[in-house]
Amino acid sequence: MKSLLTILFVCLSVQMNGQDFRTANTEDIALFPQQNEFRNTLDLSGIWKFKKDSLAEGEKQQWFKGLSDYRSIAVPGSWNEQFDDMRDYLAMAWYEKETYIPASWKGQRIFIRVGSANYAAKIWVNGQPLGQHEGGHLPFAFEISSLVNWNASNRITIQVENILKPDRVPTGGDVATGLFNNFPKSNYDFFPYAGLHRAVWLYTVPSAAAIADVAINTGFTGNDGAVEIKVVAHGKASQGRISIAGIQAPIRFSGGKATASIKIPNVRRWSPEDPFLYTVDVTLTEGNKTIDHYTTETGVRTITANSKQILLNGKPIFLKGFGKHEDFPIYGRGTAYPVMIKDFSLFKWIGANSFRTSHYPYDEEYMRMADREGILVIDEIPAVGLYFHGDTAQLQRRQSVCHQYINELITRDKNHPSVIIWCIANEPFPAKVGLTSGEEKQGDDQALVSLKTLFKQVKTLDSSRLTTLVGVMGGPSDWLTLGDVTCVNRYWGWYTNPGDVRAGAAMLSMELDRLHQKVQKPVIITEFGADTYPGMHAEQPEMFTEEYQTDFIKAYLDVADSKDFIAGMHVWAFADFKTSQAIMRFGGINYKGVFTRDRKPKMAAHYLRQRWARKN
Ligand code: GCU
Repeated sequence: MKSLLTILFVCLSVQMNGQDFRTANTEDIALFPQQNEFRNTLDLSGIWKFKKDSLAEGEKQQWFKGLSDYRSIAVPGSWNEQFDDMRDYLAMAWYEKETYIPASWKGQRIFIRVGSANYAAKIWVNGQPLGQHEGGHLPFAFEISSLVNWNASNRITIQVENILKPDRVPTGGDVATGLFNNFPKSNYDFFPYAGLHRAVWLYTVPSAAAIADVAINTGFTGNDGAVEIKVVAHGKASQGRISIAGIQAPIRFSGGKATASIKIPNVRRWSPEDPFLYTVDVTLTEGNKTIDHYTTETGVRTITANSKQILLNGKPIFLKGFGKHEDFPIYGRGTAYPVMIKDFSLFKWIGANSFRTSHYPYDEEYMRMADREGILVIDEIPAVGLYFHGDTAQLQRRQSVCHQYINELITRDKNHPSVIIWCIANEPFPAKVGLTSGEEKQGDDQALVSLKTLFKQVKTLDSSRLTTLVGVMGGPSDWLTLGDVTCVNRYWGWYTNPGDVRAGAAMLSMELDRLHQKVQKPVIITEFGADTYPGMHAEQPEMFTEEYQTDFIKAYLDVADSKDFIAGMHVWAFADFKTSQAIMRFGGINYKGVFTRDRKPKMAAHYLRQRWARKN
């Protein structure tokens, strides 16, 4: 009990320089801001004031009272490639935006929601401390109602830093486990972009009573859809109504919670071939008056697995697609809507039906696109390069950040039919990895305990989806038994047997048989690929040429086709992407994309289109 009170105290207010910063409450990100007859939104995307704080003196000098000698910056967007002096700068920086609040918002509860600040953020409103959040790639929100100036401009100040540290997730800054000898020293193979990477919203909800969460679970009874909708409401909510597919169901609240179970006759199932979405309308009523309204969507589908297959709506499904990154020149990790649309149109062009959000959750618009386009998603928390040896305090810190990420990710993405698998880590590292002969080391006890508690938390929050972690080559095979699906990254013929695709494919085939023998779960190869410099060719496939990448991918797909327990193949990677500088990363780029960074197809993309489209 004592430790719970301690945690509660620490969570409620973080004393910083005599200023109270609340820690974000994950429940506040459950519903995306929505404009309707009862709610308002204001997207603050655009040009903000920006100031580097390399001496971390901004708080002492009270920069939250207004930035002086600032520059302009675009939000959303990483700061690293918007200026010539910011590329490798990951320390503190300040953002500021002025805005009026419409008088019509008076009497409502007003919130701010940040889509992603990487890595740690603190917010002031009109110079008053509001709250703080740690961890990129997931939203956080705070109520600002009491801090708002009416009939005058309001100043939003956000301090951000992405200092690489071993007790953060993803980890960085430490030499011992550096993936490559790289700069900046990240413990992962993508650039540690920093800044406000997604939109910042102001929004309102009704103050008397408001819908705070809608959780939708779908299944079937024969040809009918069985849809369970759980609603959480704040304030004086007593009753309401849910409508879906023209069916209305009354709801009554007790303790702020209500549930409706609705049968949809001859339901139209959600699938990649027919990604049909039903609109779900939730209203709160007082007598015959409606007092709040929230609309969302759902796809009616089920996802299960047996020892060899993943089943969508009871039928085997094969995931054809990619690991990717949110990455584009100048935008860095910042949401680039035209690039997002282009990526989905290229999924269609190439015949892909799936991607993994490697190695962090993507923008909420990405997930809504996947629902609409029928793309199956492996949704991954930012736990790339986790390790379980070394300093205990750092390990505990990393573990608690992973638990926070799982809570935030499932709260945010739980209603997306496109999300079929939760992924709790990419390539968690054992103390010793057997990269050469592929012998699997047994994981250490601490790692197993840590990983099992993460899986347990996922299943507690959402038992309707599958779970996995992505195993590193030569990693412990006992870790690969913990999820519902076994996912592995394999580079036989690249990092091992370099230059020899035939030998690599033979090693892969042998290892997969041995692996499935042990795990008895469907296997997805979540990464396989070869660095390919665009335009490099050779008569016979040779490493770094487009011919080698094509030959490599073909060999892996042929091996997969020969096994009845492979449930998916994700090429690494969809497009070339920025990394830290390292001798293995020519120009600070990972060239394993089948598309270039600006989305031009390499030979392998044409090959996949011909092979995958054929299978459609
Ligand atoms: C790893 C890792 C990726 C990385 C890839 C590579 O499997 O998961 O993030 O980019 O290997 O080396 O290209």
